[in-house]
Order: sequence, then structure tokens, then C-alpha cells
Amino acid sequence: MLMNRRQFLSISGAATLVAVCSPNALAVSSSPDPKSIASDAFKAMRNLAQQKSRLLGYPINMTTPPDEFFAWRKELAAAGINRFSFNNVGNPYDHSNIPFNCHSFEKDLINRFGEVYGFPLSNIWGFLSNSGTDSNMHGLYMGRTILKSDTGVVPKIYFTNEAHYSIQILRDLLQLDWVVVGTNPDGSMDADDLERQLNANPDYPALVVATIGTTFKGAIDPVDDIQKKLKGRTAYLHLDAALFGGYLPHTSYADEILHESTVSSSGVKQKRYDSIAVSCHKFFGFPSPAGLFITTRTNFEAFRNQFSQIHNPEYIKQVPGTITCSRDAVKPAEFYFFSTPSAFKRHAIDAAAMLKNTAYLLKEMSNHYSYLHPVRANDRSNTIYFITPGKAIVDHYSLATMQLEIDGKLTPCAHAVVMPHATKKMLDQFLSDLRNRIT
Ligand SMILES: Cc1ncc(COP(=O)(O)O)c(C=O)c1O
Repeated sequence: MLMNRRQFLSISGAATLVAVCSPNALAVSSSPDPKSIASDAFKAMRNLAQQKSRLLGYPINMTTPPDEFFAWRKELAAAGINRFSFNNVGNPYDHSNIPFNCHSFEKDLINRFGEVYGFPLSNIWGFLSNSGTDSNMHGLYMGRTILKSDTGVVPKIYFTNEAHYSIQILRDLLQLDWVVVGTNPDGSMDADDLERQLNANPDYPALVVATIGTTFKGAIDPVDDIQKKLKGRTAYLHLDAALFGGYLPHTSYADEILHESTVSSSGVKQKRYDSIAVSCHKFFGFPSPAGLFITTRTNFEAFRNQFSQIHNPEYIKQVPGTITCSRDAVKPAEFYFFSTPSAFKRHAIDAAAMLKNTAYLLKEMSNHYSYLHPVRANDRSNTIYFITPGKAIVDHYSLATMQLEIDGKLTPCAHAVVMPHATKKMLDQFLSDLRNRIT
């Protein structure tokens, strides 16, 4: 029997929807007025603000930026930014036909970070994206496009099971055939297995994703060993350095993340990777999601040659090089604050404290809770994973959990990501909670 409209609305709850969406909605709806809804939302958020310093299970820096950042915001507002519509559509390195943008901030900050990652200033291109995932998307799209244009063949993508889940989504989006590369015991990519897999797929160019700081274990894929295996092949190497990419340049391990290495005998510099993705809300503590996407001008131009055949530049008078058209102008202007020499000094202080606190947490957990099997994959990592200590701790510290194989058995595990807000005092509290509240 067919339902009539009234019956349909009554079972689907659509009556409420229609009421809310109709022009008379506010007059006829029995829902509370918007002000009271907002006050509840504000109350909930104020509670969250109190809890923020105990987040330990995800790589987000919950430290409130320094007062100077909020003063910087005011300066930006005085210039009209975030007061009326600005839009960073297009390539920040090109002239824009639409003047209401913050391209100069965006280009400057990309150049500054580009130099931190060891790109020569004359050969940097990039932009501020929406997130690490967005930067990964641009890296993979650029790699796919360049490799296909060089060979006429769509590449296969190579990554490990420890790569972030965004890579699986993106390989689906880009319709790429994929090859899962095996890992070493610490969770890093096994370069010998990569070689085996490359040899098994000789007719395809290789789009390789190396992760510098895998999401759960904090492993680092061996970029130089990977490059050795790629030698003589048509390949593009994208670095997903969403978290570690923020702090490694400010530590004694900066070499891990440098775009170029010096070959000692000849003194010639060699490229280590093609593009890099870093999240801004992770290590840097930028208050909303954003990402750095940085590559070489050379790659960008090779990409643009192809992109210009897909995209008709007439309307905006340039080939943007970004997948998204309209782009946020406020974030680059704000994130610029995190790219100044004094910001880099702060990053160095935060990075040192974070690694010291991670070492402390590992030592204390190993001494007092060895039965939880705490593991730090390497001394560049701010992540420790261990057997899940029980729901109370997991909930209280918002710990991410995953099943890992321990002694041949799938075991529920959690990890602690020691971000700059995770001070020794906070970690001591965590350690004492472990003692008192393991269930
Ligand atoms: C290795 C890695 N890549 C990418 C991402 C995704 O970054 P975003 O949240 O900025 O999209 C994450 C997030 O945790 C990550 O750990």
C-alpha cells in the first residue's frame, strides 16, 4: 500500500524538517529560540576549554597561542581581513585578477617554511591548504599528473599499512592501483620490500608515499633508502609529514626532513623527495585546521603544463595549480604569524620540551607499567603506544585505540601523543591515573 504524504512525514520526522526549513519556521516551530541554543553551545564549549590540556590521544597542540598572535589578528582585522570577503583563489606566486587576497602572506610563509625544509629559495612552490589531508591530495594529484605525462601510463601508488587513512581515501579518489609495501618491526617502510614490489611492477611509474611519523606508531619511513630503490625508475616521492614535519626541522634530527642531501664526495646536492605535507594545527597549534603543501617550482611547472590542458584559464586569467578554486585568505594571513624568526625560536623550544617529555613518559611507563608494553618507535617520535589501559583512562585522555599484534596476538592498544601542551605535570597526572584507574 502506498503511503500518503502525511503518513510519510509522520514516520520520517520530515514534518519537523519541513517546519524548520519553511519561511515561517521561526513563527511556527516549537524549538527553542536561537539565542538559548547558542548559550547551551557556548556553555559546552567553555567546558571543553577546561578539558583541553588533558588531550593525549591525538596529535593536536592544545596550547593557546601567545598574546602576540591575538594582537596580530587585530592588526589583520584593522586591514579588513576577516571583516569582509577575501579569497585566495589561484596561485599565490602569480598575479591575481582578483585583488582581495592575502597571496603575499601566503607566498612569504611558504618560502620561509620551504627554506626551513631545505628547498632552495629559487625553486619553491606551494600554498596553504585546508589540512594535512588536503596537502596529501595535492601531492598525490601532482605526482599522478607528472608521472602520467612523462610516461603515458597512470602510476601505481605505494604505501604501507601504517600510512594515514587519508592515503587510502585519496588513492580511491584518484583511481590509482595500489601496492602495499611491507614494514620493519618498528612500523617504518621496508625499503627492500619496496624494491621487490617495484620490480614486480616494471611497467608502471611509481608514486610513493613516505610517512615521516606514522599516525599510530610514530615510525619514520627511510627516505634515503627509498630514494636508492627509486634510482633509475620514473617515480615521484611525496612525504606525509603531517605531525613530525612541524617539529623535526627545529631539532638535531632536521636532516630527516630536508628536501636535499649533500652527497659527500662530490658536494652535489640531491633531491630527497618531491613534495611535502604538514598540518598546521598539529605541532604548531594553529587554532583551526590548515596545511602546508610545498614542492619545487620545477614540479609545479611540469604539473601546470598538464593542468592547463584540463583547466581553461580564461575566467581567472591564470592556471591556479590548486584543485580547489576559492581558498581561505584568512588562514594564510594568520598562519604567517607562525613563520617569523621569533616563531621558529618558539617552535625549537616546544620541540625540545616535547621530545624530552616523551622520553620521560617512556622511562616512567617502562619502569612502572612494563606490562603495558610501552613502545616509542624511535627517538625522533613524540608518540608512545601501549596496551590499552582501560576505558576510564581512554575516555579521560581521549586516547585513540587500535588493535596491534603483540607476541603474535591481536591486542587492543592505545597511544599517547606528547604534544607541546602535555607538560611533565600533565604526564605525571596521567601516570598516577594509570596507577589508580586501570580497570
Ligand atoms: C601521518 C598523518 N597524515 C595525515 C594526517 C591527516 O592530517 P589532517 O588531520 O591535517 O588532515 C594525519 C592525522 O593525524 C597523520 O597522522
